[in-house]
Amino acid sequence: MRTNAFVIALSMTLLAGCSSIQRDPPLQVWDDMKHQPKFKAQSELLETDLFPFRRVSHLPPEGVVARGHLRDDSPLNTGLENGMYVGKNPLPVTLALLKQGQTKFNIYCAPCHDQTGMGKGTVPMRVPAWQPSNLTEARVVEFADGDLFNVITHGRRTMPPYRFQIVTEDRWAIVAYVRVLQRAAHSKPEEVPADQRAALQ
Ligand code: HEC
Repeated sequence: MRTNAFVIALSMTLLAGCSSIQRDPPLQVWDDMKHQPKFKAQSELLETDLFPFRRVSHLPPEGVVARGHLRDDSPLNTGLENGMYVGKNPLPVTLALLKQGQTKFNIYCAPCHDQTGMGKGTVPMRVPAWQPSNLTEARVVEFADGDLFNVITHGRRTMPPYRFQIVTEDRWAIVAYVRVLQRAAHSKPEEVPADQRAALQ
């Protein structure tokens, strides 16, 4: 009898771990991985020299913007200043920018507007009902740079927007290159440097 009582008492103690009754603090025979050294996010780092500054989390890289705190209403991002289209490209127009603009224009715009900007690309050849504007016509030459930027960014009438495909800087590079195409379309043969005139056809 006494052994039976002992066995019952013992099994109750051991099986207690399986019950849903939560002791506080719980009885832990093996603590597995419940206890291990760790740092809490954002807490101060006192004893180790993990990072040169005394913080557990690494500092964010320079220029990082927290969600919801992006200020994207600058003329560079909108092409607008005080509600008006900016007249001039906010990026300095360099040869490198024009080359970048040429590359991106030929990828993203030429399928419709063709490589000269006249509007005779592959797409309107196949779909005659969908005619792009001639980018070298006087009306478009008179657009402010910010207006061109907005056409690329948001599209216009039947032209689709390209803000998701083309990053901001490249859109301005394209604007600068469209100016090159317009200048070329309205130039005279005499304006070509003498040593390159022979190549003209
Ligand atoms: C899928 C064909 C297509 C592509 C690609 C395209 N466009 Fe257009 N674009 C059009 C069409 C069509 C129009 C005429 C819109 C209308 O008047 O309905 C147009 C019009 C324009 C206009 C003149 C808007 C006006 O008021 O007449 C500009 C400027 C322009 N596009 C620039 C660009 C640039 C820069 C790119 C390259 C980033 C580009 N487009 C890519 C089809 C395209």
